[in-house]
Amino acid sequence: MSVTEQPPPAPGPESDGDEAAERLRDRISADSLTTRRDYLRIVATVSGGLAIGGVGVAAGILHRHGDSESMPAPKRVADQLLPGESVAFRYPEDEDRALAVRLSDGTLVGYSAVCTHLACAVLWREDRGADGELYCPCHEGVFDARTGEVTAGPPPRPLPRIFLTEQADGSVWAIATARSGETAREALCRQLGDSRPEMARQLGCPGVDRAAATERKRT
Ligand code: FES
Repeated sequence: MSVTEQPPPAPGPESDGDEAAERLRDRISADSLTTRRDYLRIVATVSGGLAIGGVGVAAGILHRHGDSESMPAPKRVADQLLPGESVAFRYPEDEDRALAVRLSDGTLVGYSAVCTHLACAVLWREDRGADGELYCPCHEGVFDARTGEVTAGPPPRPLPRIFLTEQADGSVWAIATARSGETAREALCRQLGDSRPEMARQLGCPGVDRAAATERKRT
């Protein structure tokens, strides 16, 4: 599906129930983020759109969603997303508009669909260039579909990203967010630091031990 307008949120995530989300969260915790090597895979994928053992991870956007200080719950955003397709969804909260796109070369990207200029809805235009482009019709703002960087118009900052993961059954899940201009590492460390200090330590996040010591003093 090529999205030139904002459809309703993709059906399915909630209908799969909390149990499925919990299983996925456990899987992500157990398999995807627990080693530094896997973290580096995520970073590599963010920049290169790699597919790893049938599970692809990509970067997306986020608007104020990126302000979260803890990891949001995973959310299923599509049963499948083929090259040239996109889907609009809400993440991490119901009011947070977001967009996932499968580029023609298979790269999966996700972004906040809230323009960083004056918060109009950003759309994906497949017909513009090899990767298409993310377009804000309010003041002709344009963002690079592969990176979220501003390429034209008045938006002052890149689109915040959303991290997506593709499961073996082809389903696409949103699993985390980043603020505008924030690297994947910065985003993961910020959101894991307090809620999952062990994981943050394994990822080599700075300041984890200091934060843990402060927490121990408090308790
Ligand atoms: Fe998007 Fe102005 S609100 S360019």
